[in-house]
Amino acid sequence: MAAVSSLAFPPPVGRPARLVVLVSGSGTNLQALIDAVADPAYGAEIVAVGADRDGVAGLDRAERAGLPTFVHRIKDFPGRADWDAALTASVRAYQPDLVVTAGFMKILGSGFLGAYGGRIVNTHPALLPSFPGAHGVTDALAYGVKVTGCTVHLVDSGVDTGPIIAQGVVEVTDADHADGGEALHERIKIVERTLLVEVVGRLAREGHRIEDRKVWIPA
Ligand code: GRF
Repeated sequence: MAAVSSLAFPPPVGRPARLVVLVSGSGTNLQALIDAVADPAYGAEIVAVGADRDGVAGLDRAERAGLPTFVHRIKDFPGRADWDAALTASVRAYQPDLVVTAGFMKILGSGFLGAYGGRIVNTHPALLPSFPGAHGVTDALAYGVKVTGCTVHLVDSGVDTGPIIAQGVVEVTDADHADGGEALHERIKIVERTLLVEVVGRLAREGHRIEDRKVWIPA
C-alpha cells in the first residue's frame, strides 16, 4: 500500500497558534498549558476552554486565567449529534488552529472530527495501543504491566486509536497495587503534563505531517 503523505497541519505564520482546550475534570494538564503559553516563545495562546460538565476545577483554572469558557452537557441535548454540533459551533467561534482534549472524557462525534480532524490532540494515561478507554491506568495495573505511561496522539474516530505523536514511560511499583492506581496515575500525570506541553508547543511552532500513521514534526 502506498504511504499517504500530507502536511496535515501547517503552523500559523507570524502569530501564535490558537488553542481551544476541552476538559472534564481537575484540569492540571490545562494548567500546564496555561503556564506554558505565558512565554511568547512558546508559540501558542489559549483562546477558550470548553467542558462537558459544570463546576469542574478545570473551568475554575480557566476563569482564574481570564479565559473564556463554555459548557455543553450531553444530557441537555436531545441526542449525541446535537451535543456534538453545539460543541463544534462553540469551538468554531474561537477559530482555533488546534484543539487539545486534556482529560476530556467524551468521544467526539463525526461533525467535530470533520471540522477539526488532524488538528485535535489528546493525552491518554497509558501506552497506546494498550489500554485505551476511560480506565487506562487501572486496566494496565490489573493486567500486571511493569511499565506504563502516557500517550499524546491525534484524535480519530476510534477510542484512543489515532496516530501517536509522543509517549512517556512510568515504572509500576509493587506498592501501586495497594491503592487502586491513584499514586501511579499521579506519577503518570507528572510525565503527561510535560509531554503535552512539549508536543503542543512543537505542533504550534512547526506543524506536523502524517505518513502512513506516523506523525512527523519538522526538526
Ligand atoms: C489525565 O491523566 C488524562 O490523560 C486522563 O485524565 C487525566 C486528566 O487530568 N484522561 P487533569 O484533569 O488534566 O488533571
